[in-house]
Amino acid sequence: MIPSARILLIVSGGIAAYKSLELIRRGRDRGMSFRVILTRGGAEFVTPLSFASISGEKVYQELFSLTDEAEMGHIRLSREADLIVVAPASADLLAKMAHGLADDLASTTLLATDKPVMVAPAMNVMMWANAATQANIATLRARGVDVVGPGSGDLACGEEGSGRLSEPHDILDAIERVLGHEKLLSGLKALVTSGPTHEPIDPVRYIANRSSGKQGHAIAAALAKLGAETLLVSGPTREADPAGVAVRHVETAAQMLAACEAALPVDIAVCAAAVADWRPARAGNQKLKKNGANTKSLDLTANPDILATLAQSKTARPRLVIGFAAETEQVVKHAEEKLKKKGCDWILANDVSENTGTFGGDANTIHLVSASGVEDWPTLSKQDVAQRLARRIADHLRGAHA
Ligand code: PMT
Repeated sequence: MIPSARILLIVSGGIAAYKSLELIRRGRDRGMSFRVILTRGGAEFVTPLSFASISGEKVYQELFSLTDEAEMGHIRLSREADLIVVAPASADLLAKMAHGLADDLASTTLLATDKPVMVAPAMNVMMWANAATQANIATLRARGVDVVGPGSGDLACGEEGSGRLSEPHDILDAIERVLGHEKLLSGLKALVTSGPTHEPIDPVRYIANRSSGKQGHAIAAALAKLGAETLLVSGPTREADPAGVAVRHVETAAQMLAACEAALPVDIAVCAAAVADWRPARAGNQKLKKNGANTKSLDLTANPDILATLAQSKTARPRLVIGFAAETEQVVKHAEEKLKKKGCDWILANDVSENTGTFGGDANTIHLVSASGVEDWPTLSKQDVAQRLARRIADHLRGAHA
C-alpha cells in the first residue's frame, strides 16, 4: 500500500512513551507509515526493539552514528516525512525546541526540518503549568507548531490535572487535519490513468515505455485521501495498488480508453499515463520469425487519445480534465500547444529528458499550464506533487482559484 502519510515520530522521555506504540499501531491501520527517533530518555521507558517491531522500520537514536548517518542522515529523515510528530513531548524537549538547541538527534532533526511539526506534550501537572513551559509552548505555537493536548486526569506520578498525553486516536485525527486530509473532495468522483501501455507486436513482444506509474498512482492516492471516490486505470506497473482506490488493470491504450469511458461520468479526470501513441497495425497471432532477415518493418497505427476523448466528450465531460505533457525540449511551449489541441483544462508539463530521471524516478518538476497562465512548481517528490495537485484541484472546485 502507498502510505497515506509518512510520519517521523519522535518519542521523548516519559511514562507515556508506551502509548506511542499504540499510536503507531493505530496509525498504520489508517494507512500511515512511521519512522521513529527515540531519545535517550524515551529509551528508558520503551525499548528500540518494540518500536522497530511495531513500525516495521529501523529506529534512530544517535546523532553521531556513522551507520545511521550513512544510511539515512538526519536531514533526509525529516525530508522524507510529511509531518514530524513529537509524542510524548517532554518539558525538556519542548524547551530545546523553543530555544533552538541541537544537542541530540531529535533536537537537531527538529531544528533542521522544513516540514510541519506537531507536539503532544505529556508531563507532571506542575511542570506543565510552570511559566517556563507555558512560555515555550506559546513560542512554539507562534512559530506554527501544532500542539495536541495535553489532556487532564490522573497522572502517572500520582497527581491529578493537566499533563496526560492525548489519546492516540485524538493525535491521529490531528495528524490527518494538519496534513489536509480533511475530506475536501468528498462526494466527487475522480478518474486517474497511470503507467505505460503495452502494445502487442506478437504474443511475446510489445511496444512500451519507461513509465513506472509512480506519479499517477500517487495522484490517485492523494485524491482518495481528500475523499474523492477514485478509480485508477493502470497500465502494467510494479507499483502497489494505492489504499482506498479502486483499480482497473489494463495493458493496451484501447483497453485503457474503454475502462475510462466505462467510468464516466466523473467530476475529475487526471491523465498521467504514458499512453503509446502508436500500436502495431496487426499483432501477429504467432511469434514473428526472423526468417534470416536483417531488417524488419512494423506498420504502426495511431492509438486513440484518451485525454482528448475525455476533454472533448459532448455528453460526459468531467468538470476538470487534467493532462500531462512529457517533453524533452521547450517544455512549457509544447504543453501550451497540447492544452489547446486536446481541449483539457490544465496540463502538468514535465521535462522527461534522460538526465532528469522523471520517468521512473521519485521526483518531478512541474509547470502547471492553464488558460490563466503558467505556475512553476519547485522540484518535489512525486507524492508531494500529488498532494499539491489534489489540494489545487480541491481549491479550484471550491472556487478558491480562478
Ligand atoms: O510513471 P512515472 O515513472 O512516475 O513517470 C511519470 C510520467 C513522466 C509518465 C508522467 O509525469 C507524465 O508525464 N505522463 C504523461 C506521459 C505522456 O504520455 O505524455 P504526452 O505528452 O505524450 O501526452 C500528453 C497527454 O495526453 C498525457 O496526459 C497523456 O496521458 C495523454 N495521452 C497521450 C496519448 C494517448 N494516446 N492518450 C492520452 O491520453
